[in-house]
Amino acid sequence: MDTRPIGVFDSGLGGLTAVRQLRRVLPGEDIVYFGDTGRVPYGSRGREIIRQYARQDIRFLLSHDVKFIIAACGTVSSTYPPEEAARLPVPFTGVVGATARAAVDATRNGKVGIIGTAATVRSGSYAAVIKDMVPEVEIVARACPMFVPLVENGYVDDGNPVTKLIIAEYLQSVKDAGVDTLILGCTHYPLLKKMIGDFMGDNVTLIDSGKVTAQAAAAALADLGLLNGRGEGGNAHYYVSDTPDNFDELEHRFLGEFAGGPVEKIAIETY
Ligand code: DGL
Repeated sequence: MDTRPIGVFDSGLGGLTAVRQLRRVLPGEDIVYFGDTGRVPYGSRGREIIRQYARQDIRFLLSHDVKFIIAACGTVSSTYPPEEAARLPVPFTGVVGATARAAVDATRNGKVGIIGTAATVRSGSYAAVIKDMVPEVEIVARACPMFVPLVENGYVDDGNPVTKLIIAEYLQSVKDAGVDTLILGCTHYPLLKKMIGDFMGDNVTLIDSGKVTAQAAAAALADLGLLNGRGEGGNAHYYVSDTPDNFDELEHRFLGEFAGGPVEKIAIETY
């Protein structure tokens, strides 16, 4: 039994899609969330910068005495070295492993699409893990760099004409390839899930990386004996690196019924 909070971070607010699920499955756990809203997006940056940012994000969470860290960010998960993660003083998970597993379990025709940031797709992370599990799976990957700014700027309402157009532009080739499973490899994308689903059609299963990872993390916490034993009453504290105004505006979209925890701005560059 461990009463310390769970640490979750993302380049921005997309990781809140994982927090929402975590709060559903572990309602008694406390959560500390950091969203690097002052430096989002990470996905268009080079590997070394992303690693440096991830190290600061992790140091910030460790300064809050977290017991487990979730990188609720496809970009960090694809870029932060696993050897470094293994040396952290607490267990760490990204989103790639659990998401790849869910996609392999879901596909019926062996054709899986992966969408993510430029850095995620360039890294080949999801494809490598999937191929390791089932070598004959066919993979079509597409970077969708404009999705994150659309989500962070609130262009998420069903039928938004700008978003609809960009979805068609990015996803037509993935659809034409005949995938029956599509990994939303960036934790911002679930906010576009309805529109992406409408475009891809009913026979394509969408895998939400934040949701799947939260479920896997809950199972890992239980296995490691790290749960706090409470069935309810957990709270969440949110930290951001830019003004919290944007957070106040968007948290309802990301957190739904769990919106409303305290939010504070911190100076991430000092960590
Ligand atoms: N949520 C991040 C991810 O999952 C957003 C990427 C970004 O900052 O570009 O990749």
